[in-house]
Amino acid sequence: MLVNGVHTRTVWMEDGVVKMIDQPRLPHEFRIVDLPHHTDTAKSISTMIVRGAGAIGATGAYGIAQAALEAPEDGFHAYMAAAADTMSKTRPTAQNLFYGIKYVLKAIEGAGDDIAAARAAAVTAAQAVADDDAACCEAIGRHGAAVVPDVARVSTHCNAGWLAFVDWGSAISPLYVAHRSGKDVFVFVDETRPRSQGARLTAWELGQEGVPHAVIADNAAGHYMRTGEINMVIVGSDRIAANGDVANKIGTYTSALAAKAAGIPFYVAAPTTTIDPDCPSGDDIPIEERSGDEVRFTWGWSDAGEFIRIRTVPDGSPARNPAFDVTPAALIAGIITEKGIIEASPEGIASVARTL
Ligand code: MRU
Repeated sequence: MLVNGVHTRTVWMEDGVVKMIDQPRLPHEFRIVDLPHHTDTAKSISTMIVRGAGAIGATGAYGIAQAALEAPEDGFHAYMAAAADTMSKTRPTAQNLFYGIKYVLKAIEGAGDDIAAARAAAVTAAQAVADDDAACCEAIGRHGAAVVPDVARVSTHCNAGWLAFVDWGSAISPLYVAHRSGKDVFVFVDETRPRSQGARLTAWELGQEGVPHAVIADNAAGHYMRTGEINMVIVGSDRIAANGDVANKIGTYTSALAAKAAGIPFYVAAPTTTIDPDCPSGDDIPIEERSGDEVRFTWGWSDAGEFIRIRTVPDGSPARNPAFDVTPAALIAGIITEKGIIEASPEGIASVARTL
């Protein structure tokens, strides 16, 4: 997608160096960070310099490829096992991360004891994960645009745009396609406390693409659904269980309940790399619990031009901070994948799920 008119991906690798957009700096500053070692790349996921299911999937894949380039010939496999462990422990919920890691490890395995071939296979496989993510999201845009009304007043939560993937995005991709095709699209962007991915990232992306939108406080979405100002909801997903239950950013479940009450279709958009066929239901999806400080503090640019954090709750008040919640399949109108729109049901999921 375009940043100030220049085609840009969220994450990529050049000569063994992983490069990515520094997302916590947006929308105030656009800068690229260079990560020369796989441990730097792992840290970029855990500290959320990169975030979003598809983006961390590609980053995990690139990190494993970096490790394959770094690993000594003698002790190659032990080095790789340690790197895979480090990368897998960066964040627990997004299935794409585990898919990306496993995809590259399998390619390495396929090279057997030929270490030079293993290194080359790892780099090729990581690039394939990233390119596949971008291609899936482009296809999601085409399939999803078909269910976007000619006059669309769409609610979305968190950031499931191109910053959350390698390119295009999941939930926002159909809106880009619909907008480019001339449909009248307006997006209600949930602010998405506590990290404000909607206010900071989705609003910035939509602005870059010229899509009309308004940022709203999370607790305003139900109001606009009930009063008829919103006629569709599209969100992304971090992991989809085999029965069609969906984990997504905290607050998604509340939005789905409000949409159900208002009779508004609630769509989920995700590449099939987000499906975890080994996870029977939403109850089995690991939900990340992050530091309460993300709730207690906010951060931004001061008038003095400094990136600062500010406490917004009484000193000493503790906070809880689940990063995701689960929306039951029964609340979902359909799941928009690169293979088409499927029912959120065991049959629908089985019809598109990938195996590695
Ligand atoms: O905690 P984050 O920012 O990595 O959250 C993941 C997400 O981007 C959202 O849950 C999104 O809606 C899913 S689509 C990548």
